[in-house]
Amino acid sequence: MLSENRFMRRKVSAFKRGLRSLCRIRRAACISTCVVILSGAAGAFAAEPASPLTLTVRLDRPVKAISPDLFGIFFEDLSYAADGGLYAELIQNRSFEYHATEQLTWNPLSFWEVVTRGGGRGSVAVGASEPVHPNNPHYVVLDVAEVGEGVGLMNPGFDGIPVREGERYDVAVFARQLYLGRRWGGVYEGTPPPLKARLESRDGRNLGEVTLTGLDWRWKRLTGTITATGSDDAARFVLLATERGGTALDVISLFPQKTFRNRPNGLRADLAQVLADLKPKFVRFPGGCLVHGFGLGNMYRWKDTIGPIEQRREQPNIWGYHQTAGLGYFEYFQFCEDIGAMPLPVVPAAVCCQNANFTGGHGQRGLPLEQMPEYIQEVLDLIEWANGPADSEWGAKRAAAGHPEPFGLKYIGVGNEDQITPVFKERFKMIYEAVKAKHPEIVVIGTVGPFPDGEDFEAGWKFADELKLPMVDEHYYRPPQWFWDNLKRYDSYDRSRSKVYVGEYAAHDDRRRSTLRSALAEAAYLTSLERNGDVVAFASYAPLLAKREHTHWNPDLIYFSNTEIVRTINYHVQQLFSLNSGDGYVAMEFDEAAAGKAFAASAVRDSGTGDLILKLVNGANTARTLDIRLAGVGNPAATATRTVLTGPNPAVVNDFGNPRAVVPQSDEIAAGASFRCDAPAHSLTVIRIGAR
Ligand code: AHR
Repeated sequence: MLSENRFMRRKVSAFKRGLRSLCRIRRAACISTCVVILSGAAGAFAAEPASPLTLTVRLDRPVKAISPDLFGIFFEDLSYAADGGLYAELIQNRSFEYHATEQLTWNPLSFWEVVTRGGGRGSVAVGASEPVHPNNPHYVVLDVAEVGEGVGLMNPGFDGIPVREGERYDVAVFARQLYLGRRWGGVYEGTPPPLKARLESRDGRNLGEVTLTGLDWRWKRLTGTITATGSDDAARFVLLATERGGTALDVISLFPQKTFRNRPNGLRADLAQVLADLKPKFVRFPGGCLVHGFGLGNMYRWKDTIGPIEQRREQPNIWGYHQTAGLGYFEYFQFCEDIGAMPLPVVPAAVCCQNANFTGGHGQRGLPLEQMPEYIQEVLDLIEWANGPADSEWGAKRAAAGHPEPFGLKYIGVGNEDQITPVFKERFKMIYEAVKAKHPEIVVIGTVGPFPDGEDFEAGWKFADELKLPMVDEHYYRPPQWFWDNLKRYDSYDRSRSKVYVGEYAAHDDRRRSTLRSALAEAAYLTSLERNGDVVAFASYAPLLAKREHTHWNPDLIYFSNTEIVRTINYHVQQLFSLNSGDGYVAMEFDEAAAGKAFAASAVRDSGTGDLILKLVNGANTARTLDIRLAGVGNPAATATRTVLTGPNPAVVNDFGNPRAVVPQSDEIAAGASFRCDAPAHSLTVIRIGAR
């Protein structure tokens, strides 16, 4: 066993190595548990005795009420999950705010190229005076010396722009004519000429264009729509000026019209649908480490992320790239509503990440106390923004964004994995008490460090006891075997203390791959969360999304590129639990010694449908025969639906090469008051028995 200190040192140095090679910079990032390199593919079990195991489901005993909202998701902009990922914007560096603090080679012109067509000549420069908005300080000036067939800018998007024939794409550009004709002694009169926006295939074919008119001497948003006349997975966007002169350009945006639920400034439809298909009961956002940032100036401040996109404050992402905040609080809340999930925003506890020190930062720091009243007001304003009437100060901003009805916020996380120091405690307490006083209806969720035990965990729980916090957020990234070994973790939790939100967890297998073994370890653990659903209120796997070639952390639940999506086996586990959740736990008896250490099971009842749902996890490498008895059922259903998730070996993965190596298979089986079924080697089986 590594000591926690040695463990942390290893994580930190691995993180440094990873970040350096990924981003070629040594810059701050909060990692806490992020580099859990755990060798030994634990969680694989030797053959278990194959004799039938009797499971008695005690429907003759009282059903224990459990959280009906146990299974949700946690979204963090990590591994290009937001910009270049879920956020449907197709232009990279649309606002010319990329910076060398994000990646050494980056600057405001990154991902833009000057293009000259048919003898055209021109150049671009970065401008900063009189920007579109002070939060968005840079723009470019396109100077056209010779028109030829056009001079302009080209953008390749995020690894190319996926374009589909017949689809419509909305273009929006902030532009301002600076001068016409020559730069010196130029003509300052006349009508500014139009601009051309075009999609081009990677070999230069025109895939559709639109002329943007209405250019003015003041900043103005020009818009148009391109209907694609061809397809290309990696097209590019070109904006061309066709008269001599100088034009300032900013926030150059291209969106597919088909976003998730056709929302403007919306989400990538296919990726959002994969999240919606999990039917999560809640969405925790926007982080993670992203929330507390790598310095006080880098904390995620929700007010900077609402309103028109050109007014949002972009900033370096703690994971070594750029966040536009185009996917901001309004979009998060809207998405939650669209998929029927509760929003669970996390705000910083007015401290920044303690791990920021190893990359030149300064470790945990607290906002100066004189700034706390304003910060606390910011948290209270969030509640008013989400829930207040449309004529309240902050509710009006929500209404102006198109949502007059309240969003119905119930939970707020304060802090993420923060070190439990006096600086943290002082600020957390101030925030918590202010929210409790003004909004007793809001449940505040505290934080108990990055590990399932240890110093911050103990101190965090002690602090939660002192404050009588309603709920705390536990995190753990551990090898599969840890999950099997901890199936009884919550059985002995004191029910009079805070409730638990398992906000981040994942079984980290050998080489940190999303194997069947890791998925089954998580499945086994989820049966224990169901059993303890009276104390564990919520759980969410982490991280959720990772883009191919931009993955800063493994494993993740879903991998994607611009055109493909891989649902890991772990995704299927999450989905099976979520779609088959209940609000009552039904006691289940079996001989634990005979079952062995590679077996876990749960039984829940869904009062909505009346269905009884059994989950059986067999982590052994032999099949197991189960005799299932439903005690106390007068009129049992004759059949049940069985869904099995299993694969050829525990190391199998779903990946881009074989995204469907392991997927759930359903059939109907004979049921009744007692029935026999097999749990294949390395499998999760869900049996749903309809109400009679
Ligand atoms: O899920 C990835 C990271 O793990 C989160 O940002 C952080 O909270 C944890 O350390």
